[in-house]
Amino acid sequence: MNIGVPKEIKSAENRVAATPAGVKAFIDHGHRVFVEKGAGIGSGFRDEEYVKAGARILENPEDIWGEADMIIKVKEPIGPEFDRMRPGQILFTYLHLAADRELTQKLLECKIVGVAYETVQLDDGSLPLLSPMSEVAGRLSIQMGAFSLEAKNGGMGILLSGVSGVRPARVTIIGGGVAGLSAATVAVGMGAQVSILDNNPLRLRYLEDITDSRLITIMSNPANIEEECVNSHLVICSVLIPGAKAPKLITRDIVRRMMPGAAIVDISIDQGGCCETSRPTTHEDPTFIEEGVVHYCVANMPGAVPRTSTIALTNVTLAYGLAIADKGLEKAMADDPALRKGLNIMNGEVCHPAVADTFGMTCASVDF
Ligand SMILES: NC(=O)c1ccc[n+]([C@@H]2O[C@H](COP(=O)([O-])OP(=O)(O)OC[C@H]3O[C@@H](n4cnc5c(N)ncnc54)[C@H](O)[C@@H]3O)[C@@H](O)[C@H]2O)c1
Repeated sequence: MNIGVPKEIKSAENRVAATPAGVKAFIDHGHRVFVEKGAGIGSGFRDEEYVKAGARILENPEDIWGEADMIIKVKEPIGPEFDRMRPGQILFTYLHLAADRELTQKLLECKIVGVAYETVQLDDGSLPLLSPMSEVAGRLSIQMGAFSLEAKNGGMGILLSGVSGVRPARVTIIGGGVAGLSAATVAVGMGAQVSILDNNPLRLRYLEDITDSRLITIMSNPANIEEECVNSHLVICSVLIPGAKAPKLITRDIVRRMMPGAAIVDISIDQGGCCETSRPTTHEDPTFIEEGVVHYCVANMPGAVPRTSTIALTNVTLAYGLAIADKGLEKAMADDPALRKGLNIMNGEVCHPAVADTFGMTCASVDF
């Protein structure tokens, strides 16, 4: 199969869909890979590294899209990319179609085969191509929280770890899933005093077990959320209710009663945020102060560390990409129900139930 790796053109997107090692895996399986000139540069991968891995570098994005049977990307197509798509061509990337009717319509019109990373789903309900980015965001949240607590950034000037003779900071994490656990790991490692709230008792037990009780687990309910927030220097929001907007668990009144110069990192902002005072920010201007509390609400946090994010993404997408390339789309989907759930668009029809529901469209049944 011919695989195309275009350079991402979305603003401030420095990730790329494949590392040179990922390209080499496709080449070793007998495929041809075309990488757009400079596609990896934002993640620190030079064209020469892709050439060494066996790729051909092409100057024009039109040629990449023109040559490829399957395009692998990071973000959904935008602007000029719509005119480059061909009927029957496979597009394997994050799509988030339910959030974008116009994009869905364009993909339907182009009759492209849209396979979305975020809806590939294992039997246990987990989303293997989404979780690495939650892991990145969770770990980064503590780094960004520490930054927000610095005096020059409007914070109260407290060091998360404390020093000898001085208490460490109190960190509260609401939502103990992939992002929450990743945040907890870093916060505990830095020496902060960490509490984590979740509304799933089994998850709380698991967190208690695997962290060797080095953090405090607390049932998530309005009273506990309030108590933890008003007594914490840093609050991380990492709740997810799959397919729904994030619940507003932290009210403006709670924020008002938090310590002046405390900080909130609302990771869930991509789902609307769990805090009433949150609004999306960008890497260029990541924080704002509301009710005396510093808020960090960047909706694409992994973009701050494109190299780590690119490698983490390739680690998980590669096996699925190789399956499609090796077996062809139909057999790969027939063999793997998880990958089958990634199919969102085919033959000009929506074939993912949640996307179809969102837009009141009929969900086409595709038999593999
Ligand atoms: N901002 C970014 O750049 C970025 C990047 C990656 C992920 N995210 C977001 O981070 C969030 C978390 O993602 P995840 O992969 O960790 O999800 P996850 O499903 O692994 O974890 C979510 C957790 O929230 C818990 N939860 C649900 N309702 C709750 C409540 N009322 N109180 C407390 N806990 C509750 C669930 O039990 C679960 O443990 C999502 O909104 C995701 O979209 C944001």
